[in-house]
Amino acid sequence: MKDPFTSSLISVALFLLLSPSAAVDSIAANQVIKDGETIVSAGEMYEMGFFSPANSNNRYLGIWYKKIATGTVVWVANRDLPLSNTSGAFKVTSEGLLLLSCCGDTIIWSSTSAAFVRYINPMAQLLDTGNFVVKDGNNSDETNFIWQSFDYPGDTFLPGMKFGKDFVTGINRNLTSWKSPNDPSPGRYVEYMDTHGYPQILMKQGSVLQLRFGPWNGIRFSGLPNEISNPIYSTEYVFNQKEIYYKYELISSVVQMIYLKWDGSIEILNWSNRSQDWFVYATGLVDSCGRYGICGPYGTCDINKNPPCSCMDGFEPKRPDEWTMADWSSGCQFKTPFDCQAPEVFLQIRGMKFPDTRQSWYNHSMTLRECEIACRENCSCTAYANLDIRNGGSGCLLWFGELMDLMVCVESQDLYIRMPTSLLKDEVHMVSQTGFNKKIGVLAITLSIFFVLLGVSLTAYVCNMKTKRSFAKGRGRRVHTFDTRHFDVEKDGLDLNFISLSEIIKATNNFSIDNKLGEGGFGPVYKGVLESGQEIAVKKLSATSEQGYGEFYNEVVCAARLQHRNLVKLIGYCMDEDERILIYEYLPNKSLDLYLFDETKSSMLEWPLRFHIIHGIAKGILYLHQDSRHRIIHRDLKASNILLDGNMNPKISDFGLAREFGGDQITAKTKKVVGTYGYISPEYAVHGRISVKSDVFSFGVLVLEMVSGKKNREFYCEDVNDNLLGHAWRLHTEGKCLELMCPSLSNSCIVSEVERTIHVGLLCVQNLAQDRPTMSSVVTMLSGDGALHPPKQPAFFVGEGLPNPNPPFLAEVDEATITMLEPR
Ligand SMILES: *[C@@H]1O[C@H](CO)[C@@H](O)[C@H](O)[C@H]1NC(C)=O
Ligand SMILES: *[C@@H]1O[C@H](CO)[C@@H](O)[C@H](O)[C@H]1NC(C)=O
Repeated sequence: MKDPFTSSLISVALFLLLSPSAAVDSIAANQVIKDGETIVSAGEMYEMGFFSPANSNNRYLGIWYKKIATGTVVWVANRDLPLSNTSGAFKVTSEGLLLLSCCGDTIIWSSTSAAFVRYINPMAQLLDTGNFVVKDGNNSDETNFIWQSFDYPGDTFLPGMKFGKDFVTGINRNLTSWKSPNDPSPGRYVEYMDTHGYPQILMKQGSVLQLRFGPWNGIRFSGLPNEISNPIYSTEYVFNQKEIYYKYELISSVVQMIYLKWDGSIEILNWSNRSQDWFVYATGLVDSCGRYGICGPYGTCDINKNPPCSCMDGFEPKRPDEWTMADWSSGCQFKTPFDCQAPEVFLQIRGMKFPDTRQSWYNHSMTLRECEIACRENCSCTAYANLDIRNGGSGCLLWFGELMDLMVCVESQDLYIRMPTSLLKDEVHMVSQTGFNKKIGVLAITLSIFFVLLGVSLTAYVCNMKTKRSFAKGRGRRVHTFDTRHFDVEKDGLDLNFISLSEIIKATNNFSIDNKLGEGGFGPVYKGVLESGQEIAVKKLSATSEQGYGEFYNEVVCAARLQHRNLVKLIGYCMDEDERILIYEYLPNKSLDLYLFDETKSSMLEWPLRFHIIHGIAKGILYLHQDSRHRIIHRDLKASNILLDGNMNPKISDFGLAREFGGDQITAKTKKVVGTYGYISPEYAVHGRISVKSDVFSFGVLVLEMVSGKKNREFYCEDVNDNLLGHAWRLHTEGKCLELMCPSLSNSCIVSEVERTIHVGLLCVQNLAQDRPTMSSVVTMLSGDGALHPPKQPAFFVGEGLPNPNPPFLAEVDEATITMLEPR
C-alpha cells in the first residue's frame, strides 16, 4: 500500500470514481455516503471513502492522505470483509453507530458501541489528524467522542494516535500488519503494549515473539537512543490506573507516519515534498541482536562482536556444543548453581537494554535501597533496577526467573543482577552485602553501541561510528579463537569461502608485483589462480584499517549477499592476524577506463556496446540503492571501478566496503570524504553529505565520459572555459549536443539514443541533489521514450558569460577533511 505504485493506482481508481460535488468534512446522522463519494477533512489532509487496493477489485471503506501522499491508505474499516462491487455505502445512525452496508440493507461492518445510548444529535467528522470521529452534536469535546477510528488502528500509527490500552473501556490499541501489500486483512504481525509485568512493547509474528522495546524508563524505551532532542516529534507516555499509551506529535512541518509493514518490519516514513514520495526515516528492523532472545536466557547480544552472543562474567554457556554451532538459544547459566543460602552480591551492569519484564514486579515509590532488600528477600528474584531514571532514579523493578533478551546498547541506567559472591572476580563494581554501592573496582561490562528505532538517524549514525571505532581498538585478537568458517555463512546458505592465507600466497605467487592488477580504493589488487584452476582477483585491504574483525566479517557477509549480474561477485575472504583479504571473481577484460580513455582500444566500444554498458551500470547501482536488503551507497563510482567480463558486461567493483545505509537513513554526514576528484558531488565534497544522489552524480559524470570519451577531470577545451559537465550542458542548451559525442562513434551511433543518454547524464549531474533523478528513474528514462525535463545547470559550472549560480565551492572545502583518491 505505501509503495508509490499502489498509491498511484489507488489514486487513479479514486479519480475515476470521484463525484464532482464540493467536499465536506462531516456527515449528519443517517446521511448516506455512497461508493464514489468521499468526505475530506477541513484542511484537505485526509479523505475518506471507498477504495480498491492495486490489482484488486475489492472495495474497502478507508481513510487516505489527500493533499500530499495522495492515495496512501492509513485506515481501513472492513479489513477482512471486502465488498465485491461498488454498491457499498456508509452512514452514522442516530444511535451513533457507523454502519457500512451494501446491496440494499445488508450490513457488512459496523462500529462498536459500548452502551446503547440515544444521542441527541450524533454526527461524524473526518478530522485533519486523520481521525474519523462520531460525536454527539451537543457534547463534542475530545473526551466525549462516541467512537473514533484512532481507537481501532490498522497498520498505521499516526501522530496524535495512542498506542496502548485503555484499562477502563478495554480498548486495545495495537497495530496489525496487512496480509500483503494489496490485502488489508489482518496479517501475521501484531505490535502491542504488553502489560504482563512492567509494560513494554512487543511485536509478534503469530505466536512467536520477534521484537521487544522497553520498558519505559521515564524518558524512552530502554535500549532506544535518546529522543529528547528530536527536532521532528515530541512523545508522550502515560501509564496510570486508567490507561497506558505511547503517542507522538509532530513538531515540525514534516509529515510522518509509522507503520507495521506486511512483512513485519516497522518503518517510520517521512514525506518528501521534493520527490513527492515517502522515504524511510528509520526502521525498526534491526540487526541480529534485535531479534528477541537470540542469545537465550542470560546471554548478552553485542552486534559489534563476532559471534554476537556471549555470557557475562560468572556465567557459561548452558550447551557449549550448540553454542559453538552458532545456536545460542539455550543461553547461559551460572558457573555454579545458584543457591539462595550462599553469600550473594548484585553485579552492577550499565549499557545493557533491560531484560524482558513479562515476569516482573514494580513499585513506583520504593527507593533503590528498598528495592535491593526486596529482591534479596525473594529467592526467585534475579535482578532489580530503578523504574525511572529521571531525577537520579526512583521506583523499583524486580525481575523473576531467567533474564531474557539482554542486549548491549547505549543505556545509562544500572541493572543489578543477583549472583553468588564466589562467582565474581574482584574487579567488579558491585553492591555488597554490607554496604550499598561500594565500589570495588572498574565496571565489568563496558557500554557501547546503539539501536535505532525511533531515534534521530543522524545522531545515531554518529554514535555508531564512534563506538565502533573505540571498539575496534580494544578488542584485540581474542576473537580469533572462534572458527568463522562455520559461522553464519553456511547457515545463511552463502556461496562464500574462507580461503587461508597460505592458499592465497600460493595463488598470487606471494603477492608478486607481476600479479598486481592495480590499486583499488582500499588497497592493492592481485591476480591469482587457485589450485582448482579458478582465476581470482585478490584485494588486500590496507593494514592501516582500524576495522575490527567482527565488522570486517559482517561486511564480507553483507557483500556476499549482494548478488547481481552487474556487480562483481565476491567468492571468498581471508583473515589472518592483521591481514584482511577479499577474493573476487576475476574479470578478463579488466576495467572500463582502459578502453574508454585509450585512443586505439576506444574504437572497440561502439555505440550499442557503450549503451549496453551504461545501462548495466545503472542497473547495478539501482540494485545497490534499492533492491538489495541493505541500502548501499557506493561513494566511488568511476570508470576504473567498472570491470568488464568476457562478454563486455559491466560489473561494478569496490562496493563491498562502501557505506551501508540502514534503511533508516536518507543522508548522512561524514567527516572523511572518500571519493575521486572529478566524480564527486558538490554536497559530498563540501559538506560531507552523502546520499544515493551522490552516486547518481558520479553516474552522470560517467555517462558523459562514456559519450564523449573524455575524462571529466582532464577535460580541456580551447575556446571555452568549461569543464566536461559545463561543456555538455552548454552544447545541450544550444541544441548541439551531438558535438559532445566522441568522433569514433559517428558510424555506430543511434542519434536519438545518444541525445537521450546525454540528457539523462545531465539530469544526473545537476547541482542540487534533490533535482537529480533516482536510479530507478534513470533506468526508466534510459530505456523509455517519454519526454524528459530540461536539465538545470550542472554542478561546478563556471562558464563565462553566464551568471554563476553556485556558491564558490572550493572556498568552503576546508570545513571537511577531504581524502581524495587520485584516479589511477
Ligand atoms: C490487538 O487488539 C485487538 C483489538 O483490540 C485485540 O483483539 C487483540 O487481542 C490485540 N492483540 C494483542 C496481541 O494484544
Ligand atoms: C516471590 O515473588 C514471586 C513473584 O512475585 C511470588 O509469586 C512469590 O510468592 C514470592 N515469594 C516470596 C517468598 O515472597
